[in-house]
Amino acid sequence: NVRKMTQKTLFRCVKSILYALLFITISILTIATLRTFSLNVNVGLQLADWEKTNQIRFDISQRQREEVFTNFKEAIRIPTVSYSPTDINATALHEFSRLLRKAFPTVFSSSLVQHEVVADYSHLFTVQGSQPDLVPYMLLAHIDVVPASESDGWDAPPFSAKEIDNFIYGRGTLDDKECVMGMLQALEYLLLKGYRPQRGFYIGLGHDEEVSGLNGALNIVRLLKQRNVHLSFLLDEGLLVVDGVMKGLDGPAALIGVSEKGSATVKLSVTSAPGHSSMPPRESSIGILAAAVKRLEDNPMPMLFGQGPERGTFEHLAHKFIFPIRFLASNLWLFHGLLCRLLALKPETNAFSRTTTAVTMFNAGVKVNVLPSVAEAYVNFRIHSAQSLQEVLDLVDSTVGDQRVKVEVVDGFDPLPVSSYSETSYGFQIIKKSILDVFPQLTVAPGICVANTDSRHFKDLVADIYRFIPIWAKAGDAQRIHGINERISKKNYEDIVGFYFTLIQNCDVKELPETHSGVHEF
Ligand SMILES: *[C@@H]1O[C@H](CO)[C@@H](O)[C@H](O)[C@H]1NC(C)=O
Ligand SMILES: [Zn+2]
Repeated sequence: NVRKMTQKTLFRCVKSILYALLFITISILTIATLRTFSLNVNVGLQLADWEKTNQIRFDISQRQREEVFTNFKEAIRIPTVSYSPTDINATALHEFSRLLRKAFPTVFSSSLVQHEVVADYSHLFTVQGSQPDLVPYMLLAHIDVVPASESDGWDAPPFSAKEIDNFIYGRGTLDDKECVMGMLQALEYLLLKGYRPQRGFYIGLGHDEEVSGLNGALNIVRLLKQRNVHLSFLLDEGLLVVDGVMKGLDGPAALIGVSEKGSATVKLSVTSAPGHSSMPPRESSIGILAAAVKRLEDNPMPMLFGQGPERGTFEHLAHKFIFPIRFLASNLWLFHGLLCRLLALKPETNAFSRTTTAVTMFNAGVKVNVLPSVAEAYVNFRIHSAQSLQEVLDLVDSTVGDQRVKVEVVDGFDPLPVSSYSETSYGFQIIKKSILDVFPQLTVAPGICVANTDSRHFKDLVADIYRFIPIWAKAGDAQRIHGINERISKKNYEDIVGFYFTLIQNCDVKELPETHSGVHEF
């Protein structure tokens, strides 16, 4: 009887535990489902609440439209190639300066605009605002391009600006002459239409971004620091509009880069006594080095998804994902572990989820029968926002864990600070509004740049740095940047001019509208 009683109690106990588990599971799923459907619908500042400023509409005549493309094509045809920090094309850069003066006569003659040449080939335009109490902002772009050779398989010569099916082909059409020419073209037409900015601004054009920016951008920064300039925000190249690029995302999205990953290049080397291959030691310098490199690849840097701005990307885009990704993305609190495992699978998503490890060079040996005295390898790390350069170097040391392997840092820098992207962030919200004014169909989200730009040299000058150009990128287009068949559609280029035309005017807004935060959150 006693046994029967205990069995019964046990049974009851298990039953209530099962019920409790079922209840918890159902609750969690209900919350997850509710979040999936309620999150992010209509979040953000409402367009209707914005301060009304006098807006000059971007409507240009057919003659002006032709001029827009003629100017742009001339810019593409000048081969402003940077080969290395000491090997740039001075002739081309001078020619480019002449083109700017010819293409934008109003910018160069307006009493509102002060133009300066910096470090021989870079440019700084200071545009005076009528209200000196408004903190100015800055637009940044670069004139130089990476090398390109037609023999790599281009459909049109890379410096021809040839038109094929309403696309203009050429090196620099996406990086970064659409930005250089687009900004100045917008300013040219604004001034022609009698526009006078209330908030002053700067336009900076660097000439050596592709090889570090240590002459162009850095000297512009020096000049601004000498003059004690304060900036409310800075906008540079970086991220773009993705349309069918992010898997599972329903519709196009504009990603505004709010930070850049850091970088570290580490040299590993092993030295050993040289000798003849007929009497080798048990371990060669090559073997020791190869094992160390393999350990670095086998032990990737920790998964940090959710601890950097990529979290903001997911939160802003969650409602635009298709099922079941939408269910996962809306509930990071529940599916964080699962998402981490999924993101690690693909190089593109892995790149924004952790510090990446890339073995890029491996050199050893000169002769088939000689044991090399030295073997060396280079490993390039791109550092996630939640990690520092020092933390990465410490992990490299402990993972290599072999006294015979010498670890040297060739160069490196910390990830850039994360710029604000809240509802009270002036720069982010003005850029977002300008995107939506021109492209109402887009969803706007913060993002992380996995490559670096000239804007990193400005980090001591301005806290809020954004990286975005409304380049409309479809699947495969990202490979055209620094690759073959770099091209832009004529419509896209015209929209880029329209974007800067709108943005410059939107910056006359003095204050952001009040936020309604909390109202839409579940
Ligand atoms: C430099 O630019 C000029 C045009 O400005 C061009 O004729 C020349 O071929 C370029 N040189 C190199 C090495 O690309
Ligand atoms: Zn660039």
